[in-house]
Amino acid sequence: MKHAGLIWNESQHGIGITSLDEQHRQIVEQVNRVISAIEDGASSEVMHELMDGLVLLARQHFGFEERLMSEYGFPGLEGHAREHLGLLQKLDMFNETLFFSDPHRLKLILAFVTDWAELHLLKGEKVLGEYLASKGLS
Ligand SMILES: [Fe+2]
Ligand SMILES: [Fe+2]
Repeated sequence: MKHAGLIWNESQHGIGITSLDEQHRQIVEQVNRVISAIEDGASSEVMHELMDGLVLLARQHFGFEERLMSEYGFPGLEGHAREHLGLLQKLDMFNETLFFSDPHRLKLILAFVTDWAELHLLKGEKVLGEYLASKGLS
């Protein structure tokens, strides 16, 4: 059976800051491309291309978000940036090992995005969204 991937839901995932919500949505879309490619049995070349795209989006997004946090003096910046680093390291690790041979790659990538969505996005970034909104950003 095909996995449906992640479904972006503005009221659930949105943090009320347009630029960040848009970037999060793009990351979710790219993750869904990765999931579909795994299910379609795509070649490692295609997988690598998609994963490189995901790493690029994540890196750009994390950089953007950290600059915003710093600009607006968000007190949770340090811990949040540490989480970003952990997520990037995980992605790098996937790229070094996962898609050539791991039979559990679908499960691993799903666990990764679930963590990212539930722990990082829904917890830390709701707080960030509220903080930025209190500073007049939308
Ligand atoms: Fe984010
Ligand atoms: Fe973040």
